[in-house]
Amino acid sequence: MAAIETVDLRKTYVSHKKSPGVIGAVKSLFTREKTEVEAVKGVSLSLEQGELVGFLGPNGAGKTTTLKMLSGILYPTSGTASVLGYTPNERRPEMLRQISLVMGNKMQLWWDLPAWDSFVVLKELYEVDDAKFKRRVDHLVEALQLTDKIHTQVRKLSLGERMKCELVAALLHSPKVVFLDEPTIGLDVVSQKRIRDFLKELHEEDNCTLLLTSHYMQDVQELCDRIIVIDHGSVIFEGTLQDLSRRFSDSRRLRLTFEHPVEAADLLSFGTVVSLEENVALLDIPRSQVAAVTSAMLSRFQVSDVSIEEVDIEEVVRSLFTEGK
Ligand SMILES: Nc1ncnc2c1ncn2[C@@H]1O[C@H](COP(=O)(O)OP(=O)(O)O)[C@@H](O)[C@H]1O
Ligand SMILES: [Mg+2]
Repeated sequence: MAAIETVDLRKTYVSHKKSPGVIGAVKSLFTREKTEVEAVKGVSLSLEQGELVGFLGPNGAGKTTTLKMLSGILYPTSGTASVLGYTPNERRPEMLRQISLVMGNKMQLWWDLPAWDSFVVLKELYEVDDAKFKRRVDHLVEALQLTDKIHTQVRKLSLGERMKCELVAALLHSPKVVFLDEPTIGLDVVSQKRIRDFLKELHEEDNCTLLLTSHYMQDVQELCDRIIVIDHGSVIFEGTLQDLSRRFSDSRRLRLTFEHPVEAADLLSFGTVVSLEENVALLDIPRSQVAAVTSAMLSRFQVSDVSIEEVDIEEVVRSLFTEGK
């Protein structure tokens, strides 16, 4: 059984337009103009237990909506979802005890209390026994290097510290499935790295299933075995990051080492010169012309080595998400 599975999952938000002003308000009592947003349009995906999958897409693609349906916060308009064999929107306690949703831009901890107080309430809610709770919190707090922070009022913590406390709160019941929606958004580089390392460790230790959205390609590159890309509510790609760059990048980067120094001017007709240092040149070439250009260069210059560089994934994703949108 897959840990997470959806078939043709859809969500259409319906809201009622309100015209501004008093007259508008009165008018809308009688004629309610509906606006519909098709946020998720038939998403089918499947994650095995223990997978760590990146869920990527531009703003407004439908990622958060999908995660909310998967964690039972939102009802799908149609289609089915199954998490650990349960239907999320039924919100069965057995399911809720085994899943978690972490949202980077929405705090769940009580602002005016120390995080510890929230942990204790959650412990009761999830019915975690005392010994286990203590072990788990100690472990999480240590892994996140939070030790001296959990007894401070949440409002007095830095954004990074707050996010770490959120993670402890979300994970103290040892969920089997964790949905992470932009867990590192807006954090400084050091906190981002700490959280990334922490998630890697958590995944190894708990063998939990993680579905992660992030705008930071480094999170995705370091953590995810597989990615699913969604755009305008539909899945447009599933595979590894490498597959993605192969599929969507329309150029290849050649690294050429010449026997003798060459001039940039001599290379211009072959492609875009990215860099040229002494005998080594980096050249971007349209994907369809790689073979032709390579052989042309080999006959024109004395080349001692040629290789194709990995394409910059961040660049690929950026162009994928901005092209003609
Ligand atoms: N509560 C809501 N009511 C109406 N439209 C919404 C609501 N929440 C999100 N949307 C719209 O649904 C689409 C998908 O949003 P969202 O799932 O938040 O995307 P993402 O997380 O990928 O940025 C967007 O067009 C957004 O404006
Ligand atoms: Mg979102």
